[in-house]
Amino acid sequence: MHLVTLLVAHLAQQALAQGSMPMLRFQCNQLVVDRLDPLVNPGAVPSPHLHQIVGGNSFNASMDPATHDLVKDSTCTTCTFSEDFSNYWTAVLYFKARNGSYTRVPQMPSQGLQGRGGVTVYYIPSSNTKNAVTAFKPGFRMLVGDAGLHAATPNPAHKVCHRCMPASGDNSNLNCASPDGPTLPKGFCAGGIRSVITFPTCWDGKNTDSADHKSHVSYPQGTGVNDVGSNGVCPTTHPVRIPQVMLETMWDTRSFNKKELWPADGSQPFVWSTGDSHGYSQHGDYVFGWKDDSLQKAMDARCSGATCSALKTQSNEAAAACSVKAEVKEAVDGWLEHLPGDMDQNSMA
Ligand SMILES: *[C@@H]1O[C@H](CO)[C@@H](O)[C@H](O)[C@H]1NC(C)=O
Ligand SMILES: *[C@@H]1O[C@H](CO)[C@@H](O)[C@H](O)[C@H]1NC(C)=O
Repeated sequence: MHLVTLLVAHLAQQALAQGSMPMLRFQCNQLVVDRLDPLVNPGAVPSPHLHQIVGGNSFNASMDPATHDLVKDSTCTTCTFSEDFSNYWTAVLYFKARNGSYTRVPQMPSQGLQGRGGVTVYYIPSSNTKNAVTAFKPGFRMLVGDAGLHAATPNPAHKVCHRCMPASGDNSNLNCASPDGPTLPKGFCAGGIRSVITFPTCWDGKNTDSADHKSHVSYPQGTGVNDVGSNGVCPTTHPVRIPQVMLETMWDTRSFNKKELWPADGSQPFVWSTGDSHGYSQHGDYVFGWKDDSLQKAMDARCSGATCSALKTQSNEAAAACSVKAEVKEAVDGWLEHLPGDMDQNSMA
């Protein structure tokens, strides 16, 4: 990597630590935990593995981009910014007991935020005011990560990582750099496990989706995995800078931090709802659904945190009151003999 690139990444991280880099950072409470995936398995009830979904309540199994209008079809959203009817979803984490049964790991809000589980959502413009970002168009969607991945890849084409959080919390270095890693942590994490999914920041400027839900977007060149915000150089195939979307989930593993609960062989006991106990299969899906040009306004206003004069906000109580019923009728909580969809029976563990 070039020295200049390293320096820029370093400065960006400093700016981040000092809070001077503009970034929306807000809570979206859990809308539902359900075995649906309108992006990868549209119409399938159930889809293969379980997700937690946050955002607008028009979420459903199909979400046909031609007819589904997230803004008009939603009557509420679980997000702090009440004009954000987008949907975001990720895999969920289970704990596997010594007797082989599974229980879902509770979630907690990220530092400084309130919420009923859910996801902390970031939208990061560029720290360089000359590099204006273009907000997503209606119908836009994208996917990061690979639910079928269960081994390390040398240069993963995505940014998905975990951090073993100290009791005091740690918001440094948001960008999947050290101390984050691609695998689930190997030991007790006094502050729980943070899982971060970072979306690409370059768009082809034409397609709101693609067959793999990935090819219409790209990570910037050169800066690669160390880019924070939409600063990197976009490839000529994907010249349009888009806001950097990032999903952060806090898994409250603290009640499982007991030697007698962990496997006798010293391995770690957590497993994604994909059946993967390594961690590589975590993934994030995004379907854009901000009202009118509200996201563009917020990016142009270079707002930071969970308040923005360019946006409407709602109380956490109102956001948490928004929910939908799971479509798939199955047990996802309590002690389960198998993961939902029998994902523990596939070859991923
Ligand atoms: C999803 O919602 C849209 C309207 O928002 C509706 O037209 C469609 O039939 C729904 N699909 C399913 C599978 O519920
Ligand atoms: C399995 O272990 C868990 C955790 O110790 C316990 O709560 C659960 O009741 C056990 N299930 C069975 C079927 O023994």
